[in-house]
Amino acid sequence: EKITAVVPAAGVGSRMAADRPKQYLQIAGKTILEHTIDRLFCHPAIERVIIAISNNDPYFEALPLASDPRITRVDGGAERADSVFAGLAAIDDEDSWVLVHDAARPCLQLVDLDRLINAALQSESGAILAAPVRDTMKRGVVLAGDNLQGIRETVDRENLWHALTPQMFKVRQLRDSLRYALEKGAVITDEASALEFCGYVPQLVKGRADNLKVTQPEDLALAGFYLQQITK
Ligand code: CTP
Ligand code: MG
Repeated sequence: EKITAVVPAAGVGSRMAADRPKQYLQIAGKTILEHTIDRLFCHPAIERVIIAISNNDPYFEALPLASDPRITRVDGGAERADSVFAGLAAIDDEDSWVLVHDAARPCLQLVDLDRLINAALQSESGAILAAPVRDTMKRGVVLAGDNLQGIRETVDRENLWHALTPQMFKVRQLRDSLRYALEKGAVITDEASALEFCGYVPQLVKGRADNLKVTQPEDLALAGFYLQQITK
């Protein structure tokens, strides 16, 4: 099976608060984006990667991967879902499979990628990597102002997962779901949420907890450590 990957990489990295978007920060001699793309091409089924880049981004063209024939650049959008939607528009075959993976997740292991692909290929409505929640979960209630919260309740942790990427679907199903969900103004923070909005039930595939999304400054050292552990 031939799979196209779409990599949303048009974010500004406001929580990282660095001098450039976080996907262009270096870890062990390469940018986070380059690590992420390398991890995807580790898998023999992934033939092509479409990367959504902000249209005023001066960093992408400077990377060697900008001239890789397996890679296509598209203009990203205002929200992550818009960037993914733009990436999907570059895929011709609606009956093929697409795998969406955050540029900011450079520590994806081949075993996880392979497990997700195998699960999705057998599924009705695609599949996502996810990690079971570990901590006790609380729902807060605002006590005063915006920041002071108290505990309203403890949320049952059973059946609660962190949604990770990659997330893999049939192109048509994801494109139609995203289009409908965006039209209806649904809150779409990952691909699966668009399918859920349309009543589909994507599969949860247990993934490794070290597939972190580099979000805040302290995540850089952790990602560097995990990348060093990856042997294939
Ligand atoms: N992303 C995108 N287009 C957007 C927003 C985000 O392609 N309009 C991408 C980011 O580049 C990132 C992924 O979606 O690879 C996950 O988003 P997130 O971790 O939130 O990255 P940022 O939006 O860049 O960070 P922040 O929310 O802290 O600003
Ligand atoms: Mg964001």
